[in-house]
Amino acid sequence: MKAIGFKKHLEIDENDSLFEFETIKPTATGHDILVKVVATSVNPVDVGVRQSGHTTLRQPKIIGWDAVGIIEEIGDKVTLFKKGERVFYAGSFIRSGSNSEYQLVDERIVGHAPTTLNDAQAAAMPLTSLTAWEALFEQLEISPKNKMANQNKTILIINGSGGVGSVATQLASWAGLTVIASASRTETISWVLSHGATKTVNHRKNLVQEVRNLGYQYVDYILELNDLDGHWDEMAELIKPSGRITSITENKHPINLRKLTQKRAKFAWEWMYTKSFYQTEDMITQHQILDKVACLLDNGTLVSTLNKVLSPINVRNLKEAHRLIETNHMIGKVVVSQSSHLN
Ligand SMILES: NC(=O)c1ccc[n+]([C@@H]2O[C@H](COP(=O)([O-])OP(=O)(O)OC[C@H]3O[C@@H](n4cnc5c(N)ncnc54)[C@H](OP(=O)(O)O)[C@@H]3O)[C@@H](O)[C@H]2O)c1
Repeated sequence: MKAIGFKKHLEIDENDSLFEFETIKPTATGHDILVKVVATSVNPVDVGVRQSGHTTLRQPKIIGWDAVGIIEEIGDKVTLFKKGERVFYAGSFIRSGSNSEYQLVDERIVGHAPTTLNDAQAAAMPLTSLTAWEALFEQLEISPKNKMANQNKTILIINGSGGVGSVATQLASWAGLTVIASASRTETISWVLSHGATKTVNHRKNLVQEVRNLGYQYVDYILELNDLDGHWDEMAELIKPSGRITSITENKHPINLRKLTQKRAKFAWEWMYTKSFYQTEDMITQHQILDKVACLLDNGTLVSTLNKVLSPINVRNLKEAHRLIETNHMIGKVVVSQSSHLN
């Protein structure tokens, strides 16, 4: 089968930063399904893994996490899916990725693809939806069933217009919360307002002042989705006593947790890969979350965050998608799809 990968950690514009090669088509065993990939989206993790490292790898590394595809083969322990079904998933951090014709993935982290969305619209969703869902409903411990109680609660989402923010704003709004999302440009402000935010603040300005200007002394929840170091002091100031903060980005310098002591505020990390990386007992919840997200997309509660489609899946288009992510100004998602049909 054909695959796209890298051996050296190069700048994206260098010739071999990503290249096509032939490799053996895998076979499904156990809980694995073999998927023929028809669309993939590119996330900051693709760029991060491609860039980090100095050695030359012996075998090309195939990256790519988000995928939509058709099941071609199932392993002997598979119970959740049948051959021929259309699925979407975000994959595992430690297995071969979706930038290949066929990919093996554990059924417990796969969902049935939304039936009303085309391949590109569906491929935009899995990784960011899993991250936003786990951050809001597992790590921040918001109950999506408690919509009435949530109506008195406010969440600040820092980076409302990126891939994760564009789903998190929608999910938080669906759960009944008042959503303040950060956006710094005319385009990102209108994007977040059309994806569930009720109010906006500018993350290029002082966020404490921005939130206070809206009439809020504190907020109940904060979801940090870009630059934990840069926003830590603002979050410590803005969180309500006993409030909760979750971050999906890693700090590059030590952060001062003591700033939360007097408020007895909680801080929790979200890493979308934790369950598959450690093969946790609740790994199957990613299958359940993706199926739920597919229902919410199909009944119109959520909309796809797709913003740009490149077609077909080849080196040139994957490189272009990496370039867009590297700007750190991406709005919603970029997808590389085998088909150029949008409906
Ligand atoms: N832990 C996990 O499981 C997990 C999962 C997914 C992603 N991540 C990480 O989370 C981060 C966001 O991912 P993503 O895919 O949502 O991002 P993304 O789509 O690349 O985010 C781009 C957006 O970031 C905004 N932005 C730029 N600088 C900012 C700042 N200083 N403060 C707030 N917003 C800023 C930009 O808005 P403006 O142009 O308006 O400034 C832009 O629209 C990445 O670092 C990624 O690696 C972690």
